[in-house]
Amino acid sequence: KMADHLRKYESLFTLTPQRMRMIVEAFKESLETGLAKSEQIVPMIPTYVFGWPTGNETGDYLAVDLGGTNLRVCLVTLQGNGKFEITQSKYRLTEEQKQEDGQKLFDFCGECLKAFIDLYVDAGTIAKESRLPLGFTFSYPCSQNSIDHGELIRWTKGFGAPNTEGHDVVKMFRQSLEKHNVPAEVVALTCDTTGTLIASHYVNPKTRIACIFGTGCNAAYMERVGDIAKIKHLGIPDDAEMAINCEWGAFDSFEHENLPRTKYDQIIDESSNKPGEQAFEKLISGRYLGEILRLVICELIDEGVLFLGQNTYKVEIPYSFDTAFLSLMESDPTDELLMIIGIFSHFFALETTLAERQFFRALAKLVGRRAARLSACGIAAIVSKMGYLEEGCMVGADGSLYNKYPGFAERIHEGLHDIFGEKGRNIITYHAEDGSGIGSAIVAAMTKQRKIAGL
Ligand code: BG6
Ligand code: GLC
Repeated sequence: KMADHLRKYESLFTLTPQRMRMIVEAFKESLETGLAKSEQIVPMIPTYVFGWPTGNETGDYLAVDLGGTNLRVCLVTLQGNGKFEITQSKYRLTEEQKQEDGQKLFDFCGECLKAFIDLYVDAGTIAKESRLPLGFTFSYPCSQNSIDHGELIRWTKGFGAPNTEGHDVVKMFRQSLEKHNVPAEVVALTCDTTGTLIASHYVNPKTRIACIFGTGCNAAYMERVGDIAKIKHLGIPDDAEMAINCEWGAFDSFEHENLPRTKYDQIIDESSNKPGEQAFEKLISGRYLGEILRLVICELIDEGVLFLGQNTYKVEIPYSFDTAFLSLMESDPTDELLMIIGIFSHFFALETTLAERQFFRALAKLVGRRAARLSACGIAAIVSKMGYLEEGCMVGADGSLYNKYPGFAERIHEGLHDIFGEKGRNIITYHAEDGSGIGSAIVAAMTKQRKIAGL
């Protein structure tokens, strides 16, 4: 019986190679439109990061990384030759912090940075009275007109802090640093994707694209300035290069013409704090995968298929099913699927039969596989637009989904093979460790060098 139900979900969540190629075509068009005109659905943000690092960048830098789940504060020493050292502290953000006033959120970043600096001044690692240059990794779409400026276009990933959208987040962050007397100078604003792009290229010069698959989902790559029509008026030489933060999570937003959305995806969208937005991200990223699976379970409870006679209120709580559970379910090595017994009994007070557990595992696989294959479509769109297929390229990737979800990378590679055939094997993703922290330090160093050179 469960097998019959599974068949239905298989057809809902499976992407054929043909469908994937159609998505890639539409995706490519969106990327082109974003480069041609401002304020498009996929914003293709010019980052004012000019070209690749040389690998010879050196010095001590601070990096503050406000991602989706954590705030990280890092001290990075660039040693040149693609080498570096990093020391960091991590602070978990609460759901409340994501919704309270924006300035308060930046104040929190300032306080954490202050505590971090004090600690390393006491330890003698940071010189007293020094004022270190700082790279601020702020991983939300910001429209920039210089490297140390960025207006938040919209919050993503469930953030909703008021008085921030439309404001310059560097200015807000600087205010917080002043308030707390933090001896650091913000010299560059980057997104996690841009940071990861630069950091991965620093250690692996074959890298052309960087992706984040975590709480959110996004990519960056290096573009020829002459091909960014919307910034022609700035008079930057055509053959210069600039990193583009695609903000591809927004692909197909509002119109919903190209992506295979199921009714579960629609429910997630409509009940989110940003209905219509981040359509691509909502099918892929870690913030939503658990919720997709939970909604399927709830449907089957309503239909009287699952958990008859048991109290199901816990699993009926929105977002109670963590994406980490899908990882665990997929990697359960036991015949009895003991891990899945544990998840359901411990977190939801529910008893499961073996057939049900097999079904849940298969369902997790469908949802996880669809996410990876859609991710492959995004990568393929950039590869195809930039003509990277023949020569091949490396794609630096980071984020909890990429790093922790079993088989995620393999499924992306399989997807690229389905889209491009044998040549798809030329595109290889790899884990870019600590990319964004190091990346923003390198960008800070590159900015310093440009200033010295009078650019
Ligand atoms: C981290 C990067 O590894 O991955 C961050 O250093 C990035 O910059 C993060 O934002 C994304 O993953 P998650 O799962 O925290 O959203
Ligand atoms: C969201 C953000 C984007 C970020 C991504 C991954 O899509 O809008 O800026 O890069 O999440 O963290």
